[in-house]
Amino acid sequence: MRIEVPHDTERLGAVLVHGVQKVFELDSSLLESGTEESKIDQIIRPIAIQACHAIEREMAIVVPVHGERIKLVEGVLCGIPNHCLTIICSNSAREPVDRYAIELAAFLRYSHFTQKRLIIVHQKDPTLAEAFRNAGFPQILDERDGLIRSGKAEGMVLATVLAKLAGSKAIGFVDSDNYFPGAVLEYVREYSAGLSMSNSPYAMVRISWHSKPKVIEQGLFFARYGRTSRTTNRYLNQLIAEYSGFETEIITTGNAGEHAMTMALAMQLDYSSGYSIEPYHFINLFEKFGGLDERALDREMIRQNIEIFQIESRNPHMHDVAKGDEHIDAMAYAAMRVIHDSPICPPKLRDELAEEIDRLLGRNLVHGEGPTAVRYYPTLSGIDLEAFRATIRQQPYATHLLGDASQPS
Ligand code: GDP
Ligand code: CO
Repeated sequence: MRIEVPHDTERLGAVLVHGVQKVFELDSSLLESGTEESKIDQIIRPIAIQACHAIEREMAIVVPVHGERIKLVEGVLCGIPNHCLTIICSNSAREPVDRYAIELAAFLRYSHFTQKRLIIVHQKDPTLAEAFRNAGFPQILDERDGLIRSGKAEGMVLATVLAKLAGSKAIGFVDSDNYFPGAVLEYVREYSAGLSMSNSPYAMVRISWHSKPKVIEQGLFFARYGRTSRTTNRYLNQLIAEYSGFETEIITTGNAGEHAMTMALAMQLDYSSGYSIEPYHFINLFEKFGGLDERALDREMIRQNIEIFQIESRNPHMHDVAKGDEHIDAMAYAAMRVIHDSPICPPKLRDELAEEIDRLLGRNLVHGEGPTAVRYYPTLSGIDLEAFRATIRQQPYATHLLGDASQPS
């Protein structure tokens, strides 16, 4: 991959947010790192395929599934390189038709044909709930039925623990409703290319979509940002600006469902529920490592820096969009909520957000049953991994989890 070196960076304490990076070539050939050293490397850098592979071999790719069409998910699996451990976390219905059973059969067959290392779990598996309970992380369980709560974020937290148990050194997420396998492969490559550019063990890569095609008057129109993304990015940038005193447009990936990070970072983050999880990454990093609240400082991580890369993908992003306006408003609401509720949110911004939130609620556009409350989960660093492993070890999906998770990542 040939990729722009970030030339714009905003720093908040130990958190470095790099400006968006353009991709110049999806494949820059078999360059050994360093063989093309020149002035131009300071601006655009070739990243050898070997360097990407080395990171991908130790990276788990998580595919969250919720009732998506199997053909669509198979396309996504097809785009994930064979050497990545793939984790499918499904919350699909089990009745009246057991959709999960159909998924399981299809994906296991697929993994048999491709020899792909694949872990498939259902979010409502009682043994996984039991494992969280035994590992000292009951927060993720629903009081009503004792099972893991529904939500993409909850599926992601579950998959993060499984990846950690499998010994993965990095974790990346790819939505399962993507129509283009080629885009999926591109995201994974950008994850590994981005992580390879970092000097810190705490790094994150977020994909900034180049365009989202829409059909307008029978033609294709390539829109750059959706309405929700625009709003979320504007508020996150406003937050940075209020601290730095300089207006900025650095953040373009507030809602990036496609993102990856080192396992060391994944174990240090707090998470929030539902669709607020992606914007909350920024908020939580600023809260913990932005140096805005002295009590929260972790000396070791402050010394290391936390690097956030934003890479602009080349493939258009085309996913299942039949989900409607209500869904979009719920996403905007969740993002505004986590910014508004953060102790580091400056008063002026908080007032503005409160007004916006009221307006959304007033228009009654957020979910029929009323706004879903945002939940917060503590870091996974305190979880008893061995207790988790012991609880699930008899399960069929435990085959790839028999490494020793006590090793530092
Ligand atoms: P959007 O792309 O942001 O509009 O959101 P989607 O509705 O497409 O959801 C993003 C991804 O999360 C898709 O792959 C969904 O299948 C998946 N997803 C949504 N809800 C859940 C859930 O409760 N659990 C799991 N495991 N995945 C979910
Ligand atoms: Co989608």
